[in-house]
Amino acid sequence: MTNPVKRGIELLQDPSFNKSTAFTDAEKQKLGLIGLVPDVTEGEDLQLQRVLLQLAQKTTDLERYIYLVNLLDHNETLFYRTIMSDPGRFLPIVYDPTIGEACLKFGHIYRQPRGMYLSITRRGKVKDVLENWPQKDVRFICVTDGARILGLGDLGANGMGIPIGKLQLYTACAGVPPQCLLPMYLDAGTNNEQYLHDPLYLGIRRPRPSTEELYSFVDELVEAVQELFPRCCIHFEDWAGSDAVHLLQRYRDKYCVYNDDVQGTAGIVLAGMLNATKIKGTKLGDEKYLFLGAGSAGIGLSGLICTAMVQGGMTLKEAQSHIYMFDINGLLEDARKDLFEFQIPYAHRHAPTRDFVAAIKSIRPTTIIGVSTVGGAFNRVVVETMSRINERPVIFALSNPTDHVECTPEQVYTWSNGKAIYAAGVAFPPVHLNGQTFLPSQANNFYVFPAIGMAVFATEASRVTDEMFIEAAHAVADQVPSELLNQGLLIPLQSNILEAEIQTAARVAKLVFDSGLARVDRPHDMVSFIRRHVYKPEYASETAPTSKAT
Ligand code: NAI
Repeated sequence: MTNPVKRGIELLQDPSFNKSTAFTDAEKQKLGLIGLVPDVTEGEDLQLQRVLLQLAQKTTDLERYIYLVNLLDHNETLFYRTIMSDPGRFLPIVYDPTIGEACLKFGHIYRQPRGMYLSITRRGKVKDVLENWPQKDVRFICVTDGARILGLGDLGANGMGIPIGKLQLYTACAGVPPQCLLPMYLDAGTNNEQYLHDPLYLGIRRPRPSTEELYSFVDELVEAVQELFPRCCIHFEDWAGSDAVHLLQRYRDKYCVYNDDVQGTAGIVLAGMLNATKIKGTKLGDEKYLFLGAGSAGIGLSGLICTAMVQGGMTLKEAQSHIYMFDINGLLEDARKDLFEFQIPYAHRHAPTRDFVAAIKSIRPTTIIGVSTVGGAFNRVVVETMSRINERPVIFALSNPTDHVECTPEQVYTWSNGKAIYAAGVAFPPVHLNGQTFLPSQANNFYVFPAIGMAVFATEASRVTDEMFIEAAHAVADQVPSELLNQGLLIPLQSNILEAEIQTAARVAKLVFDSGLARVDRPHDMVSFIRRHVYKPEYASETAPTSKAT
């Protein structure tokens, strides 16, 4: 990106063009910067050293998060240079698990506006509000209404930390250029009494509206986006479970939209399942699944596993018969009267029970998947029961942040005597047990949605389909080498995440072209096509204004 017109202090205050101590002497002369910056010319790597030095002096991850957000407010290139220099170290700071704490305190640690705040009080004027956004080629909007932030519940405007962080991962993990990304908080109020009474809360102070009122406001947003940003994909994030599923159903066949909690989580967990079956020597259709949690993540995942089983030759009904679900009111079974229509396919004939261990004993699942938000729900009895029934029980504990995880890897490997195949939603260090080293996998959707985003960005796809998430799952699974699979690793390591996502994006892009959904010409070589679109955290060599302002 080249600097349009800015010079002097105005240029230094623009994070997209500010190079801070990296302007050359010629640039300083040309751009009126002499005396406004130290009289040196540093490279990005030297600047990075200073950032690392300053980060080392911070004592908590929340302080590091605040420091990095502040860096982004001043110098976007250096921010991404930092994150992309060591994703394994920085993703847990800019995203899970630190983002959970950052959201809880969002109104208190807030410094600068970022993204857009769209209040329901602006009904009828959404298009006018969107026109205030300075970028005209917006390619992704990540939007939340703050109703179910991570496993933390209704955080209202404090949930804005999530779309901001999610979109940073598009860039940091898959190289989607940051200038085309727009984080958005759709403010429809909150039912969080604590925030409603907090003077520093940054949202409108009213309870949430009826579903009908909310959906008609979302309709206005989605339609305004089609008019103003025709190449834009809308990414729904952290909406309450039924809204997540219903809004996706409402728009998915008409517009370019997806829901990461429903589809992205499903994609990464499917990748983990594909590798779990490789370890066991089985197929997806040989497994029987019991979910703890039947909300947006559980429903999305069960649907995608069914689609994958159908691709493997089963009927949809047969595939659904392999999946059981358990929620806050017990096992989903055919006598339950409180289910949403999207849960009914998994409510099989079974006696009612609110006892998860009893359900395991009776259903005899090979795999249990925790998407319940309930920390510790997979206790010793659960893991031991699974281990008695199965030679290699598959136990995925996906809720986050960390204190909501259904069980830790240490617990699972200990209680199952090293037999369990495990994944969590957050990162855990290796576990050493009885002379063996186990590598717990992080089934975090940031392996999938940034790669899907890059594929959509590069191909200008007109829709996002389930098949794209299944292809991404296969691509992610195929990148784990067999020696690491043997140590229980189901998902690639984060150290080389950009390269992993480029490969995944290339496979998804190929599917986009094969499905006729691309809006650009088909390239010969998909991987180099994706590479050509990848953002690099380097200063443009020419930062001179392109207009007469020089
Ligand atoms: P949701 O609110 O839509 O659903 C939660 C489900 O858990 C509901 O069905 C609810 O009835 C059930 N539940 C709550 N308490 C329960 C209890 N005591 N016993 C049994 N079931 C109970 O939430 P969503 O979107 O499905 O997310 C669930 C969790 O999964 C969250 O912690 C979220 O952070 C995590 N998640 C993890 C991802 C990852 O990449 N690892 C991605 C998306 C979500």
